[in-house]
Amino acid sequence: MVGKICGTGSCLPQMIWGNEKLEEMVDTSDQWIQERTGICRRHIASEEETTAYLASKAAKKALHDAGMSPEEIELILVATISPGNIMPGIACEVQKNIGAENATCFNLNAACTGFLFALNTAQAYIAQGIYKNAIVIGAETLSNLTDWKDRSTSILFGDGAGAVVLKSVDEGTYIQVSRSIGNKGHVLTLTNRNQKKYEQNPLAEETYMRMDGKAVFQFAVTKVPEMISEVLEKAKMSKEEITWYILHQANARIIGSVARRLGENKEKFPMNIENYGNTSSASIPILLDELNKKGALKQGEWLVLAGFGAGLSCGASILKW
Ligand code: COA
Repeated sequence: MVGKICGTGSCLPQMIWGNEKLEEMVDTSDQWIQERTGICRRHIASEEETTAYLASKAAKKALHDAGMSPEEIELILVATISPGNIMPGIACEVQKNIGAENATCFNLNAACTGFLFALNTAQAYIAQGIYKNAIVIGAETLSNLTDWKDRSTSILFGDGAGAVVLKSVDEGTYIQVSRSIGNKGHVLTLTNRNQKKYEQNPLAEETYMRMDGKAVFQFAVTKVPEMISEVLEKAKMSKEEITWYILHQANARIIGSVARRLGENKEKFPMNIENYGNTSSASIPILLDELNKKGALKQGEWLVLAGFGAGLSCGASILKW
């Protein structure tokens, strides 16, 4: 059994910050940000637009798209590194907000690879026959974790949520490969704000996101093509059979480089990073929802999803739309 995506949804905060807003905050320019990252603007959550709020809205829209009622849902997984609350897990908040009273709910943290790992987890439950359906959500309010004085990170990130509904079908394909590389974890970090050593200074420097951008860039452009080639080989498929590569939206140059390294046409790599920046675990489901709502994804087309991020972690999956 395989979980088929039968509904998608997303939710973006109301407020939009263009690059000019960043120009007011750090020594940067619209031109530099666009040339080096492809980002023009990002959505920034208000206090009311919590991660759970965005996740719940995205889940509701995905349920509506799937034509299912919340009571039918058996599993809710939320991938996030910015949950707001430590407990209850925001997957349980989503359950409450959407009325999915029969679901088992938990969060999962695999940073920007989070949605992909959550999808893998849901697929494993479905393949075992443990659950017949699931909502898988990627949701972030990274603006709460960003040091707005640090130009090496603040220009990159944004807030938002995306969700998919999976329904068990007898015939289908979901093939995945994944990797975690803990000994490279130091290149992208955010120290836990709940540790005792920060009691005196709860927002000490270390409690913001810190990144060696070049190291992460290098990791992404080498590992993502490797993961994609590996998953194609595992599926015994050729790249010609793939219609779309849905990559984590971290940097337009990373996506361009992955396409080149695979010898693939850039047109097969849809992007929306210009409007949202890097929304971590939310980027893949937001992009899926946009493409789905535009009618760009046709039944029977093969998709590769690929993610990478802190951990370090990375992975790729193949599925049929
Ligand atoms: N605005 C203007 N100038 C900036 C800048 C900014 N925000 N950040 C750096 N610069 C300057 C540097 O000081 C440097 O100047 P110099 O040439 O005079 O020394 C120059 O621009 C190039 O800096 P560099 O750090 O080499 O830029 P880069 O091309 O590596 O781009 C990132 C930086 C962060 C955009 C890029 O490394 C990246 O995207 N990395 C991956 C990050 C990522 O995806 N993280 C999340 C993973 S899920």
